[in-house]
Amino acid sequence: MFSDRTNWKLTQNRFTVALEEARAGGAKVLDLTVSNPTRAGLRFDEQAILGALASPRALDYDPRSKGLPEAREAVARYYREEHGIHGLDAEQIVLTTSTSEGYSFVFRLLCNAGDELLVPKPSYPLFEFLADLQDVRLVPYPLIYDHGWQMDFPSLEKAVTARTRGVVVVHPNNPTGSYVQSGEVELLNAFCRARGLALVADEVFLDYGLETSGAKAPAQEEHNRSAESAAPPKIGQGDGRHRSFAGNQDVLTFTLSGLSKVAALPQMKVAWMVTSGPREEVAAAMGRLEVIADTYLSMNAPIQWAVPVLLEQRKSIQRQLLERVKGNLAELDRQLAEQKSCQRLSVQGGWYAVLRVPVTRSDEELAIELVREKSVLVHPGHFYDFPSDGYLVLSLITPEGEFRDGIGRVLGYLDS
Ligand SMILES: Cc1ncc(COP(=O)(O)O)c(C=O)c1O
Repeated sequence: MFSDRTNWKLTQNRFTVALEEARAGGAKVLDLTVSNPTRAGLRFDEQAILGALASPRALDYDPRSKGLPEAREAVARYYREEHGIHGLDAEQIVLTTSTSEGYSFVFRLLCNAGDELLVPKPSYPLFEFLADLQDVRLVPYPLIYDHGWQMDFPSLEKAVTARTRGVVVVHPNNPTGSYVQSGEVELLNAFCRARGLALVADEVFLDYGLETSGAKAPAQEEHNRSAESAAPPKIGQGDGRHRSFAGNQDVLTFTLSGLSKVAALPQMKVAWMVTSGPREEVAAAMGRLEVIADTYLSMNAPIQWAVPVLLEQRKSIQRQLLERVKGNLAELDRQLAEQKSCQRLSVQGGWYAVLRVPVTRSDEELAIELVREKSVLVHPGHFYDFPSDGYLVLSLITPEGEFRDGIGRVLGYLDS
């Protein structure tokens, strides 16, 4: 009766069962996998957020396939102010209800059934379901760790077939916290151009770079002074700040992001997709994307009118989250310095840290033991397709006290 694409294994995995048993038994489990920022003890400006949802303009129905121009202008302003991209026209932006919806629009735009997209590994587990639903085949290309994560271009070359339609990058990647470096951007562009492939850049964590003070980069200030003349700045690390692919002109590029991470407001269901690249290709892609978006018209009016105010919230929320993430990372390092069995991998940005642990059993087994024996929840690396056992993933947005105690339990257990 059902399609093959929905033949998922729907039984609970052993890890989830162990967690439910621990909670049913009354244990207070310290959760080091927190990913919901609305439940992470942050201070939100309630008045501004709820007030923004009550615009009288929302009583009018004005169906716009790409989303209301005022909301798209606010997104273009975000790229201008935050990432120094001045040439971005709001007409290149499509609003969606989530980054996941943005992915499905792009998959539909680029791929016939059975066509392939190259995706990083390890990375974000939702990709597989998105691809299944769109009949797209994901072909992984490995990220390799050598004092930092790097793209492996020889593997990327080997992964290409006649059915490959594009390369997905996650900038910075979840959970490795690695940005695509500026040298890699040039190689990627050359790689895609030579093969007629599109680039899809997931930048939901772009603003959470951990290596700079958050000060505006000099190049960006320069742009702010002479807005008109601005060519988009180079992507990558060059000036200490990680640039957005939304300014990439070299190949057809779809940049995805949204309020769920940018303003820590996942419940608002606002995301966007920016199309950039050679002018004719952008025009052709936008024409088709508009039809896809028009088929659903999934954005509601109150939320679109609220976008300018909700995007402004990023300024206070990102400050709080960066403080949290940096504080937890420092606490992790402090506790790691007192033991010898585990190390953390280098992290450049995002909300997660990866812990390298001794391989005495599978990661899943270890995570289950930690729930059962120590009442602490961490994600096993295999959820993210790490190449082997020996990795645990920790959320750095966990409230500080819980993080400190939870890490104490994890390291104590591994050391014993
Ligand atoms: C890398 C990455 N992309 C996209 C998403 C989902 O974003 P959205 O809530 O906009 O669908 C997540 C959620 O954790 C993520 O980690």
